[in-house]
Amino acid sequence: MPRVAVLVTHIRPEEKLLIAELQALGVQTDVILDRDFNFDLTGSAEQLAPSGVPWGAYDVVLERCVSTSRGTYALAILNTWGVRTVNTFHTARLCENKLLTTLALAQAGVPQPEARVAFTPEAALTALDALTYPAVLKPITGSWGRLLARVSDRDSAEAILEHRQTLGGYEQHIYYAQEYVRKPQRDIRAFVVGERTICAIYRTSAHWITNTARGGAASNCPVTPELDALCQRAAQAVGGGVLALDVFEDPERGLLVNEINHTMEFRNSSAPTGVNIAAEVAAYVLAQARVTA
Ligand SMILES: Nc1ncnc2c1ncn2[C@@H]1O[C@H](COP(=O)(O)OP(=O)(O)OP(=O)(O)O)[C@@H](O)[C@H]1O
Ligand SMILES: [Mg+2]
Repeated sequence: MPRVAVLVTHIRPEEKLLIAELQALGVQTDVILDRDFNFDLTGSAEQLAPSGVPWGAYDVVLERCVSTSRGTYALAILNTWGVRTVNTFHTARLCENKLLTTLALAQAGVPQPEARVAFTPEAALTALDALTYPAVLKPITGSWGRLLARVSDRDSAEAILEHRQTLGGYEQHIYYAQEYVRKPQRDIRAFVVGERTICAIYRTSAHWITNTARGGAASNCPVTPELDALCQRAAQAVGGGVLALDVFEDPERGLLVNEINHTMEFRNSSAPTGVNIAAEVAAYVLAQARVTA
């Protein structure tokens, strides 16, 4: 019987579903809380996990931490020791950071909004001028649409940059800016599991930030061959796995990939799409376990 560890910060509705689906497939599933992590970095996978089992005894470790830093470091350690994980450290490292995601997509020639980075308020102002207004300033890490700013003109740019420089920590001093995409009152959230785009939703909102965590309404979005092909290319660009992609519909250029999430929430997406996302992910994890078995 395959043995899987699920790494969590706490059990969200997603983890509850994933654990139930893994168990339904006959997978022995251990839940490990990230607050209990205590790795001997100079040791190996023979050391015991908080579950009392050696890390190396797991066929696959599924990382589902809300804490991105805990999850990503755990993946770094486990992959270094040769433990198979979903997703890999390589993928998590790129997806947790919008700057690195943009670079990876650009290298792969995947269409995306124009983006620039600068490291001082003065250079950031020049970057925003080049993107033209409105533009969007974002933290390079983070989710749920937090601390995003639509910068409507040079005056507001100066004010936001001064606030970030004065009040922000070092991550707020990395000025990542994107052109503002004139999308319809929605964007697309597409789910990739392995080689397939299993489903997608539109997130519709009167607000320019359409995240469902911010009140965006979810409805089914058909996975067209065009959307599927774009999602496959984008997923491959960050190493593949279980991923959620934000896609914008640009009136002139068509589909653009905004960002890729590697530990996505999906509680609002199974009902509108009719796809059991947790079951798809569990089947993929089991398939990965069989690769090593
Ligand atoms: N450049 C842009 N042009 C137009 N709308 C944008 C742009 N960037 C972000 N948005 C809107 O804001 C939302 C959140 O942006 P983004 O996904 O980059 O941030 P996030 O905080 O990482 O969200 P997530 O929880 O998906 O990780 C997008 O889904 C989109 O609706
Ligand atoms: Mg997003």
